[in-house]
Amino acid sequence: MRIAVDGPAGAGKSTISKAVAERLGYIYIDTGAMYRSVGLAALDAGLEPRSERDVSGILDDIEIDIKNGDDGQSFYLNGENVTERIREPKVSMAASSVAVIPAVRLKLVELQRRLAEKADVVMDGRDIGTYVLPDAELKIFLTADAAERARRRCAELIAKGETADPAVVEAEIKARDKNDSEREFAPLRKADDAVLVDTTDMSIEQVINTILELADKRR
Ligand code: DC
Repeated sequence: MRIAVDGPAGAGKSTISKAVAERLGYIYIDTGAMYRSVGLAALDAGLEPRSERDVSGILDDIEIDIKNGDDGQSFYLNGENVTERIREPKVSMAASSVAVIPAVRLKLVELQRRLAEKADVVMDGRDIGTYVLPDAELKIFLTADAAERARRRCAELIAKGETADPAVVEAEIKARDKNDSEREFAPLRKADDAVLVDTTDMSIEQVINTILELADKRR
């Protein structure tokens, strides 16, 4: 069974997908973290993440490893544990920028498909239902109002001891959604056969249960 969870930034995809995977005993695959790792590699190399030529030039030297530990998943970029660094706000836009580049997508999609062959998975991202796993048994398109998504992202940042301005976070989320939806190759889009779940007025538990019920019917 493969469950694809797509949607805009801050809709709660990773929280929900992680919880659903845990309850079902499936593997959770965070594809956003892979684009974030490439975005970080570009920033660390002093490159412009939008530059197809520059980023394509370092792509062969980028190795991403995922390790499952007791405290969750860790991401390694060329051997360095970047689990924390890829969550920095400046990496979000860099990830969205490198994600426009077809060569980046092809490299990461290959890795994502390989991971999904080995186990039952819950995979979240932007193009999982439309491009990465078009035959997934269950597809969810998770969304929420932009203001609510910004509010949740701010709460997350504040919980980590960072400062966050809701207006700035909302503008950043909207810019990223626009960039992710308007790119040519595998843009953010609801698959025709995906179930739309608007989480604006739902609790996390309600969203998890909605997806578990849908999964139960498809198994
Ligand atoms: O889910 P996230 O916020 O961690 O993703 C970071 C960026 O990576 C997002 O703005 C667009 C890109 N991305 C993508 O293009 N395709 C995916 N399947 C996952 C993420």
